[in-house]
Amino acid sequence: MRLIFLGPPGVGKGTQAQKLSAQLRIPKISTGDILREAVSKKTALGLDARSFMESGKLVPDEVVIGIIRERMIEADCRKGFILDGFPRTEPQARALALMLNRDRPGLDRVLNFELSETELVRRLSGRRSCPNCQAVYHVELNPSRNPDRCDRCDGKLIQRSDDHPETIRKRLEVYQAQTLPLIRFYEGQGVLTRIDGSGSPDGVYQRVMSAVGKLP
Ligand code: AP5
Repeated sequence: MRLIFLGPPGVGKGTQAQKLSAQLRIPKISTGDILREAVSKKTALGLDARSFMESGKLVPDEVVIGIIRERMIEADCRKGFILDGFPRTEPQARALALMLNRDRPGLDRVLNFELSETELVRRLSGRRSCPNCQAVYHVELNPSRNPDRCDRCDGKLIQRSDDHPETIRKRLEVYQAQTLPLIRFYEGQGVLTRIDGSGSPDGVYQRVMSAVGKLP
């Protein structure tokens, strides 16, 4: 199954993609995670990407398209994948279509997660993540058992450097200007399903499962 998870920052794409990836046994490919790892390892990619990410802007298209092109030829993608946070611009969506349509028709479904801006800001402001295993928590909505430590691997939880108020505001503006047009793009191809992102993570997951045909 080839899926894209689309939606604004903080809507819960990563949380849902992680669950579905474990259930379907297909990889979750998050450009955000790949870029953050490069930043923390101070690779050439990370050094290039850092200032864009910290100011809430998008990393240039050619950089992220290159990342996805390399990742998708790995063997674990043969059975399918969930793209989380890619594509985010029309040039990225067109580049992806070229990559996918080479062998067989492109995508099974694009899930577009929707949530009010107030709730997005609340989710982003309280997020804590584990840099070790990428688990995601929220200080009130989904806290770890031991504050500051990851339930899964006991790593020290951090607040992402782009989850501060001014950067959150910028990311939401960038989403409106550059990513929102993709809803029409995929609607036009007849592959878009809208998912209400409100309510508990389990409640949202039921909607995801129903959209990908795993529930009646
Ligand atoms: P990226 O890491 O992709 O960030 P994002 O799209 O802004 O999305 P987030 O990770 O912030 O949110 P999410 O929807 O995954 O929500 P989550 O599940 O964590 O990108 C970061 C940066 O990298 C970009 O700004 C850009 O610079 C660069 N970048 C990445 N991809 C790029 C691309 N393709 N092109 C160019 N640049 C790119 O949930 C959020 C919080 O809410 C958590 O605390 C979670 O516990 C909580 N939560 C989740 N679901 C629920 C629920 N149902 N109820 C209550 N709480 C919930």
